[in-house]
Amino acid sequence: MSMWKSENSQNDAPKRKKVTIPVLNQKKLNGEAITMITGYDYPMALIEEEVGIDIILVGDSLGMTVYGYDSTLPVTMDVMAVHSKAVRKAAPKAFVIGDMPYMSYQISVEQAVTNAGRLMQECGVDGVKLEGGVEMADKIKAITKAGIPAMGHLGLTPQSVSQLGGFKAQGRDAGNALKLIEDAKILEEAGAFAILMEAIPSEVGKIITERANIPIISIGAGPHCDGQVLVVHDILGFFPGHKAKFVKQYAQVHEVIRKALTEYKKDIEEGKFPSDEHDYPIDEDVLAEIKAALEK
Ligand code: KIV
Repeated sequence: MSMWKSENSQNDAPKRKKVTIPVLNQKKLNGEAITMITGYDYPMALIEEEVGIDIILVGDSLGMTVYGYDSTLPVTMDVMAVHSKAVRKAAPKAFVIGDMPYMSYQISVEQAVTNAGRLMQECGVDGVKLEGGVEMADKIKAITKAGIPAMGHLGLTPQSVSQLGGFKAQGRDAGNALKLIEDAKILEEAGAFAILMEAIPSEVGKIITERANIPIISIGAGPHCDGQVLVVHDILGFFPGHKAKFVKQYAQVHEVIRKALTEYKKDIEEGKFPSDEHDYPIDEDVLAEIKAALEK
């Protein structure tokens, strides 16, 4: 199997500075945009590291993008651990966040710290992310107290999709927007190092960003936030068809892969692959020796 190592891949990329929380805070202070994207496996994270993405989120969205579920709910800690380790290996300099899957932190503070600790100790992530507002403050506080950086996630929180009545934008009425603003304040006070805001009006994203002392990262929360994140399969166009309003597609990878696989299949069927260039040559004398031995 080929093992791709680009010129800038982890073994020979000493120039890139490690992304840390102070680096992210400084970016907020300087008004420099923080770049973040999901990454679930070694080859993709290698390229994300190569282009210098600040934060790679091993998101539980892998339940949908990699495993084909229709929500993130079936994703387990064991699955998150496998993917987090692969991403960490590929991207030593990026700030890698391991998403805490459904039911890995909701039950108790002890459960939350234990599972966050597992992602940190066993997988080497730089921080974890958990969904929810005021009801998660005690968990954020305890995780942070254990020395594990915790990112909050507010707005459209996919693990509560049933409660929210679907994948819908949030914060569109005054009551809900004020709750989000208050939740963001509470998460910051609890010790969150950053907050991800999903699918809310950009004006609400702006208010939260201006009031926060920690980086606010947007996925459909507008251009005023301190940084942006999208799901890598969405920006690359892996799945033709419906895409969320906040997604910008930068490639049509589905088309590239479909074309390559079609050609591969055709080449095999037409006897064009493999050809001489893919052959392991053998010395004529050795071949004669084999044949002679078989004839005995
Ligand atoms: O799991 C995920 O990919 C997320 C997105 C909202 C970025 O949390």
